[in-house]
Amino acid sequence: MSSSPDTPLLQLSGIVKHYGTVRALQGASLTVHPNEVVALVGDNGAGKSTVIKVISGVIQPDEGEIVVDGRPVSFSSPLDPRSHGIETVYQDLALAPDLDPAANLFLGREVLRGGLLGMLGMLDKPKMRRQADDAFARLSVGLQDTRSTVGTMSGGQRQGIAVARAVLWASRLVLMDEPTAALGVVQTGRVRALIESVREQGVSVVLVSHNLPFVFEVADRIEVLRLGQRVAAFTRAEATAERVLGAMTGALAEVPPGDPAPDTMIGSVIDAGADGISRVDDTGGVSGTRGMEA
Ligand SMILES: Nc1ncnc2c1ncn2[C@@H]1O[C@H](COP(=O)(O)OP(=O)(O)O)[C@@H](O)[C@H]1O
Ligand SMILES: [Mg+2]
Repeated sequence: MSSSPDTPLLQLSGIVKHYGTVRALQGASLTVHPNEVVALVGDNGAGKSTVIKVISGVIQPDEGEIVVDGRPVSFSSPLDPRSHGIETVYQDLALAPDLDPAANLFLGREVLRGGLLGMLGMLDKPKMRRQADDAFARLSVGLQDTRSTVGTMSGGQRQGIAVARAVLWASRLVLMDEPTAALGVVQTGRVRALIESVREQGVSVVLVSHNLPFVFEVADRIEVLRLGQRVAAFTRAEATAERVLGAMTGALAEVPPGDPAPDTMIGSVIDAGADGISRVDDTGGVSGTRGMEA
């Protein structure tokens, strides 16, 4: 790949997606660099899952650009992002409950035996099992009995299997939509460890979550989606709960008092690099500078 080290791994810009009259995305953007964990946060209905579905090729945007390693791409089916090393952990995990963990890892991508048996469609189960055990070990997914069906396993174990499957196949980027939504404290800690080991393997992560304490623990950067547009981006060091929540709710939206056209302001990105963060001033008005997106 001829891209420079500064070239983002993935860049979405101006993504529009309508469902009938519902405007799910209204010019959404997202930037992911190599080897980075980006949290995508926003209120319910902000468009987070729609962004994930666009990147995973499940839905196609009406407008906008997707750029991988500096080159425009078109993701017209889930196979396209896969060919770029991008894998998704869906909110419902998309596991087959009647199969064991190894079979789930290779679902749809089974390894065939060599020679004639392979040509006849015979699976190389020992090889798949070895690779699966290796993937679970690398990610510290604790499975006491790897031959039980996934349906009998705990929520945390299932989460671990779904993440391990994504990581096994992802060479560049793993997308996770609400990975801790159904998990307890201990299991959430396990997902945090999984995300950290994914990054240690040089793979980036886009994490959708409304669990802000969790986001603050794992994310290198936080991008905020509101009403289908990116309204703010913070590094972990710059992010505070107040700032992130303010951007999520619009309380810190950088619309000057009395501005006649707030809709046109929503797409601006607060430049968290400079001290351009807008703040609500004492009089209830809003002050601060605004950096329009390039
Ligand atoms: N398949 C769909 N049909 C109609 N509206 C949808 C569909 N998917 C999402 N939406 C709408 O798009 C908006 C964004 O949804 P979503 O991306 O799921 O938000 P989030 O994940 O941030 O909660 C919401 O208003 C939602 O109701
Ligand atoms: Mg969602």
